[in-house]
Amino acid sequence: MVRKTLIAGNWKMNGLLDDGIALAKGVGAEFKKTGRRDCEVLVCPPFTLLTSVKKAIKGTRVQLGAQDCHFESKGAHTGDVSPVMLKDLGCQYVIVGHSERRTNHGESNELISKKAAAAIEAGLKVIICIGETEQERDAGKTIDVCTKQIMGSVPQNATDKNTVIAYEPVWAIGTGKTPTTKDVEDVHAAIRKVLAKKCGRAVANKMRILYGGSMKPTNAKELLALPDVDGGLIGGASLKVADFAAIIEASK
Ligand code: 13P
Repeated sequence: MVRKTLIAGNWKMNGLLDDGIALAKGVGAEFKKTGRRDCEVLVCPPFTLLTSVKKAIKGTRVQLGAQDCHFESKGAHTGDVSPVMLKDLGCQYVIVGHSERRTNHGESNELISKKAAAAIEAGLKVIICIGETEQERDAGKTIDVCTKQIMGSVPQNATDKNTVIAYEPVWAIGTGKTPTTKDVEDVHAAIRKVLAKKCGRAVANKMRILYGGSMKPTNAKELLALPDVDGGLIGGASLKVADFAAIIEASK
């Protein structure tokens, strides 16, 4: 397999010091026990926990990521965090363009592309999120929406080594609803075709496309077994050690 599975936990705005550290330690211990080298495991805690989680996962091969970044390296941007700062702190990854940022913070494809380009430039790997709303899906626009998002938010410096795409249908996030496995595979295959246009076929074939949206231990195996699904971006189920460990196990 040219594409190494990535199981990523997006903790969103969850976790205080004690429970965040306990969760990170638990995930680290579980992943270490597996001894697996055929998959990558990543946790993306809120900014406030990055330093503590970094310590908690030391020596476990679990990687560290942030959930967003600015596109500038430094300067007068109150409340923002730069990719250079994240790299300096020890992050390997950063998520950009999550639907919650697109919706709640009005982030455009153009802005997301700038963030992703800057993060790559800073030496981080980016997870660029895309996905349609329920209304867009009902109107049969899923592929159109994903195509526009990829063309607009994947930057010029993206390669399979520094960029991962996460397909997260907005209506499946935190709802317990998931598309059928056929729909997931169809959309992922379509995304790979669009990536081939954007980045070239060789890069597209090696670029990982994660599925996200109500992935849990009970549905992970069938989703992760799909040929164009190269891992998962997990919200709710990444907040419980047992659930996240079960999803890692399901990726075998
Ligand atoms: P849930 O797994 O809670 O549906 O969240 C998915 C997600 O948004 C991950 O980024």
